Amino acid sequence: MADTKILVALDVSNIEQARTMIRELAPHVFGFKVGLELCSAAGVPTVVNGISDQGGAVFLDLKFKDIPNTVYGAVKASCRPGVFMMNVHCDGGSEMMKAAVKAARESDNTPLMIGVTVLTSVDLSTLNDEMRVSGTIQEQAVHLALLAKGAGLNGIVCSPHEVRAIKQACGESFVTVVPGVRPAWAVTGDQKRVMTPAEAAAQGADFLVIGRPITNPPTEVGSPADAARKIVEEIKMAVVG
Ligand code: C5P
Repeated sequence: MADTKILVALDVSNIEQARTMIRELAPHVFGFKVGLELCSAAGVPTVVNGISDQGGAVFLDLKFKDIPNTVYGAVKASCRPGVFMMNVHCDGGSEMMKAAVKAARESDNTPLMIGVTVLTSVDLSTLNDEMRVSGTIQEQAVHLALLAKGAGLNGIVCSPHEVRAIKQACGESFVTVVPGVRPAWAVTGDQKRVMTPAEAAAQGADFLVIGRPITNPPTEVGSPADAARKIVEEIKMAVVG
């Protein structure tokens, strides 16, 4: 079983709210995923420093997609100390992904470069009719994962249900970053086809991206720190059991 690590999704627009969460949760989780909303509001350097000052690792979820030269520059500018992982869209093409990998390797802290395959908001008719890409979403996701691997990316974002297929296609060391995870005690909300953290860990997921079950846990679970500790414990029990 993989040594599954937890990244808390900081889906807030305000750096003060984020700081409160980071202070409380940094001792209990591996790191934090920050995306376009918080980075647009507060700026990448402020957000990254706010997390790394508390000892948390940063997954910069900015999903770069542009011409290779621009992505190269964006990755270079974002490889700040504390950033251990960032991502690009696989459908920007091999040259763009290679430019991202090159920029990461030239940086002092060389973050893991992760690919986004097919957004979960894209359904089959969007893929086939609007984007005019034939085949199923799963076929396209595996195709883009292999393309990402060929371009030197370290892994991809995928659902817990796809971890095994991706590892089979791309190898066990190809990193899987997995949202759509819900402890049995949490509200499912808008996530569909969820797995519990322990189940996702058993599939071999490397990183679990978990937001609301930790940042806004049910009253009976307690504080965000209590929720994070409970999830870490559940994963550990699954490993031992
Ligand atoms: O609150 P919740 O646990 O649903 O948060 C999951 C995080 O993972 C959110 O930041 C969401 O945008 C992100 N995500 C996702 N599904 C994807 C890709 C990213 O839920 N396919």
